[in-house]
Amino acid sequence: MNGLDRIRCVALRDKVMSAEQAIELIQDGAVVGLSGFGGAGEAKTVPLALADHAKAHPLKITLATGASLGNQIDGRLNEAHAIERRYPYQADPDLRKSINAGEVMYIDQHLSEMADHIRHHNLPPINVAIIAATAITEDGEIIPTGSCGNSANFVEMAEQVIVEIDNSINPILEGVHDIYVPKARPNRSPIPIIHAGDRIGTGGIQVNPEKIAAIVLNDIPDTSFHMDEPDDDTLAIARHLIQFFEGEVAAGRLPQHLGPLQSGVGSIANAVFSGFEHSNFHHLEMYSEVLQDCTFKLIDAGKMTFASGCSMTLSDSCAKHVMKNFEQYKGRIVLRPQEISNNPEIIRRLGVIAINTALEFDIYGNVNSTHVTGTKMMNGIGGSGDYTRNAHIAIFVSKSVAKGGAISSVVPMVSHVDHTGHDIDVLVTENGLADLRGLAPRERARKMIDICAHPDYRDALNDYFERACARGGQTPHLLEEALSWHANFEKTGSMHKTT
Ligand code: COA
Repeated sequence: MNGLDRIRCVALRDKVMSAEQAIELIQDGAVVGLSGFGGAGEAKTVPLALADHAKAHPLKITLATGASLGNQIDGRLNEAHAIERRYPYQADPDLRKSINAGEVMYIDQHLSEMADHIRHHNLPPINVAIIAATAITEDGEIIPTGSCGNSANFVEMAEQVIVEIDNSINPILEGVHDIYVPKARPNRSPIPIIHAGDRIGTGGIQVNPEKIAAIVLNDIPDTSFHMDEPDDDTLAIARHLIQFFEGEVAAGRLPQHLGPLQSGVGSIANAVFSGFEHSNFHHLEMYSEVLQDCTFKLIDAGKMTFASGCSMTLSDSCAKHVMKNFEQYKGRIVLRPQEISNNPEIIRRLGVIAINTALEFDIYGNVNSTHVTGTKMMNGIGGSGDYTRNAHIAIFVSKSVAKGGAISSVVPMVSHVDHTGHDIDVLVTENGLADLRGLAPRERARKMIDICAHPDYRDALNDYFERACARGGQTPHLLEEALSWHANFEKTGSMHKTT
């Protein structure tokens, strides 16, 4: 049978069964730990069979993952009303609707923290782990696929493990993973990563073979991603950032190669990061979470020497190119568990420069990455907090307006706070870059309005700020008006009319 040869530990081959047989291990009310991060490396055949089964035989699970899933798995399980609770991150449009309708309880959590919460019993134990694998080695190690996510942690902590052998994954991926699982506190040692490229673990996930309750063969490929091409605004944001970095090097505050970079998810982050391709920077490194197309473009352009991540989320054409030429990338990338890729201890030690995307920022530098008009969940905080709080320089980017100009991304007060002004160093829009380091709130507001805000909203922001300053305070506000921009948008479809 296709894929049996990937189970190199021959004794495990008699655990192969159909997805329909394997899902009998998942009881109503179970906590399921599913591999997958950024739409890469999720198990597919088993969760999709579970979604079909749940339509006829209603059941509810708590679904824990690395991060977002591809292949509409969240959407299909949601359609079958099979998800009761979901953590720590999702990006599915249909599940988003159920979350915002209050039908699914969503725990939007820092991605580095979830494994520790399960390990220390702050979250319920995992009953069944479903893990996608490139292969199972002679020694019984599970080799992950396009992401590491929380897979090693789920395997360690689960009562039972279902392994999904992914025939669609090129076996050449074996060797790219570096699996390190910290011990439970108080017996934890420092994590010995001193450079972005250090390898500290094993090539696969170690597992007690008795825990493996089923092995299922899968042929469904990972989803490929559409990335918007850079536009005038994202190109301008990239230019401002490159200029900023050139200035930091000239001032002796950053080395020539800058130090390890982290890039957020989405089209804006991908486009902005591509800006390094035409810069004078060389020997760049990434210590990041999702390796997107831009990572491989920078390696191809001779700009980047090494990239450490937790998953590879690529467009179709980039994925084909990367797999065809994988030998040339193999020594230049590593995939780690998210507990390590997003680890605050390591991010702080390495001096990572974090570049993430915001929905909105306020004049004092607080950032909202998750909640549209303060109430509706977009995706989740993901790893942005892991990096921002611990970065050497914490940067957020956004276009200055959204929805054709109806929304200003610079507002008097953010309608939800994911990242406080205390953690933010630099904010950038297409209009310019505000370096907020060492500035008091009133000084920050001047820069945010004069540099980052869209010209159409500057007068209204100045008017708000001046009237707030007249009332006084370290961080002046007009409390009755601070969220009126969002209220106006809800009422009229535009932030332009303020009360
Ligand atoms: N209010 C309401 N909607 C807004 C908005 C605002 N202030 N700013 C942007 N949007 C909308 C856009 O109009 C767009 O809507 P559409 O999908 O209907 O077209 C949507 O948000 C996405 O924005 P886009 O401009 O396409 O940016 P993106 O694809 O780069 O995504 C985030 C931006 C913030 C949604 C995304 O980066 C994210 O989810 N971040 C949080 C997690 C994170 O940072 N992870 C990385 C950690 S390593």
